Amino acid sequence: MKFSIITITTLFLVFSLANTAQSTSIKVPDSLEQRVKPCTICHEDVDKTSLDAYFPRIAGKPAGYLYNQLRNFRDGRRYYQPMAILLENMSDEYILEIARYFSSMHYTYPQPDPHGLPPNEINMVEKLINSGDPARNIPACNTCHGESLMGIEPYIPGLLGLPHAYLAAQFGGWRNGGIMRGQTPDCMSEIAKKLTQEEVYALARWLPAQPVSGETAKSETLDPALVQRCEDIFSERKHFK
Ligand code: HEC
Ligand code: HEC
Repeated sequence: MKFSIITITTLFLVFSLANTAQSTSIKVPDSLEQRVKPCTICHEDVDKTSLDAYFPRIAGKPAGYLYNQLRNFRDGRRYYQPMAILLENMSDEYILEIARYFSSMHYTYPQPDPHGLPPNEINMVEKLINSGDPARNIPACNTCHGESLMGIEPYIPGLLGLPHAYLAAQFGGWRNGGIMRGQTPDCMSEIAKKLTQEEVYALARWLPAQPVSGETAKSETLDPALVQRCEDIFSERKHFK
């Protein structure tokens, strides 16, 4: 008898606490900023790269690129469970809002991370970046990623200011078929598969060593033949007129 009174009292307490919690949570403004709070635990700013060397920056990246990636995570074309759970029930429209929000955010870039590569490997990387390799049908990285490698609006990401571990994992995923970000044709996965292991290693070392400067280029600077090569990535053009 005594036990059940305690139980009832406890239940009552729990119930009133839950009620208080509910009425408090209703008072929290339901702004976009509030809703992206869980994202910024991992993606907030430069100091987070020391928290986990793997977290990529998202602030300041082209909006269409972020929009595509968030849909990829939500729909299982790119795997990262903690994000898939957060994005699970979000509509395309809502994801577009989040993409625009992060794209317009200012970001403090990390300091360059020295690469320690020998001159012949630096040469190899700089050739790929500026000239590509026509014999293997690899266009120069900077024709798609922008002259200053800061990306091209609205779909192509920049390559600077990203951690080494993240870059190495992206190339690994493309080469081993682990990442299928878009559908076909996936230009970046095709290019990654043509690179040698040495090239990938050197690129993933060289890129984080470059100081970040310059702006994301405008879409007019992108060669239409290259757009065609990445057609699937440009499929939602209507949002980014
Ligand atoms: C627990 C940490 C964590 C949380 C929380 C998180 N992310 Fe991520 N995010 C990551 C990691 C790690 C990756 C890289 C995953 C991979 O290897 O593909 C990533 C990748 C991304 C990318 C792709 C970046 C690129 O350059 O391709 C975007 C965009 C992104 N996150 C946005 C978000 C948004 C928006 C939220 C909130 C809804 C969020 N993330 C929540 C850790 C997190
Ligand atoms: C034909 C155009 C094209 C060329 C050439 C190209 N890329 Fe890409 N790259 C892309 C596109 C488009 C994406 C975005 C893919 C997506 O949305 O999933 C991308 C994404 C990337 C990313 C992922 C960035 C991130 O934040 O996750 C890296 C790294 C990358 N490219 C490196 C390179 C390197 C290094 C070269 C030169 C060897 C290169 N790319 C050449 C079109 C290109």
